[in-house]
Formats: sequence, structure tokens, C-alpha cells
Amino acid sequence: MTDESTNNTETDTPSNTDRAGSPGASTFGFETILGKLVVDNGFVTQEELSECSSLLQDSKGNATGHTLADILVNHQFLTRRQLDRLQIDFDTRKSTQRIQGYRIIRKLGSGAMATVFLAQQESLDRPVAIKVLPKKFSENKEFLERFYKEGRAAAKLNDANIVQAYDVGQSGEYHYFVMEYVDGDTVYEQIVEKKKHSEKEAIPIIRQVALALKHAHKVGFIHRDIKPKNIMIAKNGDVKLADLGLARALDDQVAAEAEAGRAYGTPYYISPEQIRGKKNITPSADIYGLGATLYHMVTGKVPFSGKNPSDVMHRHLKQDLVPPDHINTSLSPGFSQIVEMMMAKEVSQRYQNASDLIEDLDAVAAGNSPQYAQPALDFAKLAEVAKGTPAEQSTAQKNDNNPLFGMVLPLLIASVVINLILVLLLLLL
Ligand SMILES: Nc1ncnc2c1ncn2[C@@H]1O[C@H](COP(=O)(O)OP(=O)(O)O)[C@@H](O)[C@H]1O
Ligand SMILES: [Mg+2]
Repeated sequence: MTDESTNNTETDTPSNTDRAGSPGASTFGFETILGKLVVDNGFVTQEELSECSSLLQDSKGNATGHTLADILVNHQFLTRRQLDRLQIDFDTRKSTQRIQGYRIIRKLGSGAMATVFLAQQESLDRPVAIKVLPKKFSENKEFLERFYKEGRAAAKLNDANIVQAYDVGQSGEYHYFVMEYVDGDTVYEQIVEKKKHSEKEAIPIIRQVALALKHAHKVGFIHRDIKPKNIMIAKNGDVKLADLGLARALDDQVAAEAEAGRAYGTPYYISPEQIRGKKNITPSADIYGLGATLYHMVTGKVPFSGKNPSDVMHRHLKQDLVPPDHINTSLSPGFSQIVEMMMAKEVSQRYQNASDLIEDLDAVAAGNSPQYAQPALDFAKLAEVAKGTPAEQSTAQKNDNNPLFGMVLPLLIASVVINLILVLLLLLL
């Protein structure tokens, strides 16, 4: 299953007809602007558009009754779904033109529940990013209450590694969230471009997100939607965690469904306890999401893939994780242990806070063993110990994360052997 949302980053410069305050803003509809949109977005060339437009009229110059949208879809220049997407973007943009105090510059991208625009905040003359929710959210009063409450709370957070929230508001039927604009890429885009991060490249990024989480968790925020697309890397290398407080506005199942309902985007990074719909979600849920993100960065693969979103979620709950160093053999055992501990299915087996994680990341970066993440015990190593050979650094099969294999079984075998020896001794005596 591949994620196609890279095509969300297209730029679409607003046309004059489309701008707030321009004379035609209210008279030009979607159909009028569609020709320009499809050319700007690369669906058709100018020549193809002219050909399609010529089909609007018959040879006598009479209207054929077909719309340009129908002609483009029928001639397979774009799908219905792409057309719907253009329509939503158009509607959203048209409405956003009217957000008082901001001048919309271009679309930055869109995700499962919103479209994000680059805008200039006129009063302070600074660039900002504005996230605009689709109209359908206006009808959900409960959601909107949480959206405003969380937005206001997030604005109080101030941390170098957190995208600063500035404002929440309403423009017509649209609700929006204004935040710091990060000029750079998301980790998702980096994954798509370079496929794999080395351990050395990944650690400083994850460390900065862990610092952001440490701050957020301390003041009672749990992000709940840690994923590559919510980690932004500014051009100067600063790492910024986006969307803090926003995921809380939706409950986890609704959020997961929103993701699942998209052609792209599946719950690749969600924690088992969120999948189970647990009410008391703890900071460890964010550590899991960050672990899944780190896994994707260093292996080039999501930790669990499947034929559909519920399959993926089932695997988060039940399937053993393939240790990351089995996929990318250049990873150090200590680093791999950290990722495995971040992604432990049981909350009690996971890092309990971001500070412990930072300590382990620093230890591994300095070439030492992590303090909290431990290698799983395995038979080969036990046999070596039994033979008196000094234990090597663990290159063990770390997929034996079943505690029965790690601890209980060797103890059982040892006690059976001791008992047998005792019985033998007794018999001999
Ligand atoms: N503060 C920001 N600054 C710059 N670009 C942003 C910002 N927030 C979001 N974006 C861009 O907009 C896209 C859509 O964001 P969002 O709606 O949060 O969806 P998602 O997080 O699922 O990608 C992001 O992938 C990113 O490329
Ligand atoms: Mg986001």
C-alpha cells in the first residue's frame, strides 16, 4: 500500500479572478476556473484543454449540454475523485480569501481532515500557515468546541521544536487554525525522496521530536497523531512537531476512520491502545507513534502493512515486529533495541516518558549501550554463557520478544535439569 499524498504539495497560484476583493470573486464559479486549474495542476496541456473546450459546442456553435468537468472526466484526463478534490480546494480557497487580516498565497498541502495554505498575516507582516477545516465540520458542535478549546490551549505552548499555534477562528462556514509557517519538508517527504535515513541522520531528528514531546507531556498535552507528515524539518535544520492539540479534537476512532476513508493514508503509526479505543491514553502512545515513524525512516518500510486499514490495525495489536536491524543490517543493536522498546505493544514495556528515550538516544549516539532498552534473552547467548564464553554484543534474534522465550523458558529448562541431577544423585546414593 503506498501513500500518494506527495502530490498534495503542488502549488496552485491563485488567479486574479479568484482573489478576495477582486471584482469577479463572487461571479466566477468552479466551472469557469476549472480550465485554468486543470492546466495549472498538470492534468492537461493547454492544447488538450482547447480540444476539450471545443466539445462544449457543436459544429453550429450551439451548446452541447456537456460541462467541461464531464468532458475532462469522460476523456480520462482526470478521475471523478480528482475533480472532487479540485472542487473542494476551490471552495475552501474561495472562502479563505475572506479571512480577515490574512492574504492567501498558495496551497501547501492537504491531509485527512483539512487543507493548509500559506498566507501573509497583514498586521505583523509575517508568513503563516492556515489550516482550514472542510465545511462538514461546521455541523459537528462537539467537535468544534474541542477544536477551539484545544487550539487555544495549544497556543499557550511555546517550544522551539513545536510549530507555534497563533489563532483559531471562523470565516463564513469554515473554521481555521493559524500557525507558524515552516519553510521546509516533512519527514514524509524525506522518506519518499531518500527512502532510508541512516541511524546517524535519524537520531537528531527523533531527539528533537522527543524534546517537543517532553515539553508537551509536562503540561498535559498528548499529541496522539505522531507520524512522518507531522514532523517538519525547516531549511535551517530545526525540527518542528506540527498539529499539537488538533488530534485531541477528534476521538481516536473517528480520526482513524477519517484516515482510513482516504485513498491514501492508513493507520501506520497509531498505538495499540488508541486502536482499542482506550480512554486513558498516556504519553507512551506518542512514544509508539514516534517509534513507528523512526522505524519507517531507517528501514524504508512501515512497521506493519496490510491489504486495508483494519488489517494494518490488527497487525499493530497482534503481529510481532520484525526488528529494524533485520531489515537494515547497518543499524546498531542498541539502536534497534530502542526502536523495539518504543514500539512495545504493552504500555508497561514501553518508554514511560520522553526523557528516558532521550537518554537512550544520546547513549547510542555516543557509541554506548542504551540504559532502558535491553536486548531480549536468547538461547544462543545463554548457551555461550553456560559454556563460560564471554557474551558477545547481542546480535541475537530479537524477534523472540515473547517473554516465554526470553525469560521463563530458560529458567524452566534450568530447573528441570537441576531436578534431574538431584534425582540422579539421590538414586546413586
Ligand atoms: N505549519 C506548517 N508549515 C508549512 N507547511 C505545513 C504546515 N502544516 C502543514 N503543512 C503542510 O500541509 C500538509 C497538510 O497538513 P495536514 O492537514 O496537517 O495533514 P497531514 O498532517 O496529514 O499531512 C502537510 O503535509 C505539510 O506539507
Ligand atoms: Mg499535519
